[in-house]
Amino acid sequence: MARAPLFAANWKMNKFVKDTEPFVRGLLDVIASEPKKAGRDFQVLVAPSATHLTAMRAAIGAGPILLSAQNCGQGRFGAFTGENSPAVLKEIGCDWVILGHSERRHVYLESDERVQERLKAALEEGLSVILCVGEKLDERKAGKTSDVVRRQMEILKQVPVSDYAKRLVIAYEPVWAIGTGEVATPEQAQEVHAFIRGWMRENLEQGAAENTRILYGGSVKPENASDLMKEDVDGFLVGGASLEVQSFAGIIRNSMNSRG
Ligand code: PGA
Repeated sequence: MARAPLFAANWKMNKFVKDTEPFVRGLLDVIASEPKKAGRDFQVLVAPSATHLTAMRAAIGAGPILLSAQNCGQGRFGAFTGENSPAVLKEIGCDWVILGHSERRHVYLESDERVQERLKAALEEGLSVILCVGEKLDERKAGKTSDVVRRQMEILKQVPVSDYAKRLVIAYEPVWAIGTGEVATPEQAQEVHAFIRGWMRENLEQGAAENTRILYGGSVKPENASDLMKEDVDGFLVGGASLEVQSFAGIIRNSMNSRG
């Protein structure tokens, strides 16, 4: 089966809890008006702060929107002040988690080792994971993009994923394109996505490369979405443009139209 495109809204540390219900209502309206069917032809995911997850879960109800946390702890329970247990995320009806986002790696100095621990814990508790990878500007300029991405992907060799189509998504997010308005060209995105898929083909079990969706993230907007949605690009992880229903919806609509 072809990989169903995924459109993920990463709210980061934005919005009030009271904003969740109107956002979800608006998003459900937009999804319902799409000629393609959400849940089957494409998927939509929203990742608010941990403080918003319960309200967002209630707002979504039985609708086709997937709910994700923005990070999770590296074990089930324990002395991890400030962390959220993957088991409790599951308990409150949150089935997804973003791991290794560049802000976690570079602002909070999360190492590959720490991301690997979180990945293992998340998968063990039954969460599906969006694993973020991507190079910084100096690394790109030094020609080290593939080295950085390869190193960040290495953790997958140690962590068994039972079902790549359902349990793992990779998000390629060049750090220089996140929140900067500077977007990778469709060629730059495709080149790294193809590299990631090739790496998976060589290093992971059969089917991993073909079934895992690889999202692009970094200043995605309605205006650039359809050009970026090519070949190995299976959807987007969207920050700034996901905060308003209309711009997030525009990204979904333009991307799906470009897929025909
Ligand atoms: P941006 O963020 O769309 O605001 O660049 C993307 C992300 O960090 O996931």
